[in-house]
Amino acid sequence: AALARELAGKASTLAELHEAMASFDGCNLKFTAKNLVFADGNPEADLMLVGEAPGRDEDLEGLPFVGRSGQLLNRMLAAVGLDRNSAYIANVIPWRPPGNRTPTPHETEICRPFIERQIELVNPKVLVNLGGPSAKTLLNTTEGILRLRGNWRVHTTPSGTAIPAMPTLHPAYLLRTPAHKRLAWRDFIEVKMKLRSLQG
Ligand code: URA
Repeated sequence: AALARELAGKASTLAELHEAMASFDGCNLKFTAKNLVFADGNPEADLMLVGEAPGRDEDLEGLPFVGRSGQLLNRMLAAVGLDRNSAYIANVIPWRPPGNRTPTPHETEICRPFIERQIELVNPKVLVNLGGPSAKTLLNTTEGILRLRGNWRVHTTPSGTAIPAMPTLHPAYLLRTPAHKRLAWRDFIEVKMKLRSLQG
């Protein structure tokens, strides 16, 4: 993770960070993935969403949240009057783990400086953590997502900026547990209200 931190820290724009990640060979996931999945959406947006890791469709297209989870995410955004142009979207892990297995703690530690720098460069007003792995990696907590969700937390960037963060349920989980969709919708309404209050 020391090399990743050094590379990430040297990147002063998203384009430079993208390049640094593309040239980084320190994570084994890169060698089984087809593509680096860097981001989608609007880097000028006030809202940034961070998921876990690319799945099959994301790996093929090189874009986050374009498969079934992504379609549900689009509907969740639409439900509160947002869309992919009003958000910037990335993942904790930028390469697909083989067979969509959960990234190991080691892989997550190696990649963490990149997503932390990506958040810092986008500098969103509000962060949404999609699912437990994103929340645990970026909110300095070990609590489970069902306890975390719906409550504002703070993400602190490497340079010390505090960004309000809402942990919520991952769309892939909601596809398996549709009864919990109403919880995620509640969380997105909180996010919408926060954005409104910050936009004045
Ligand atoms: N799940 C994620 O966490 N991220 C994606 O990009 C797609 C599915």
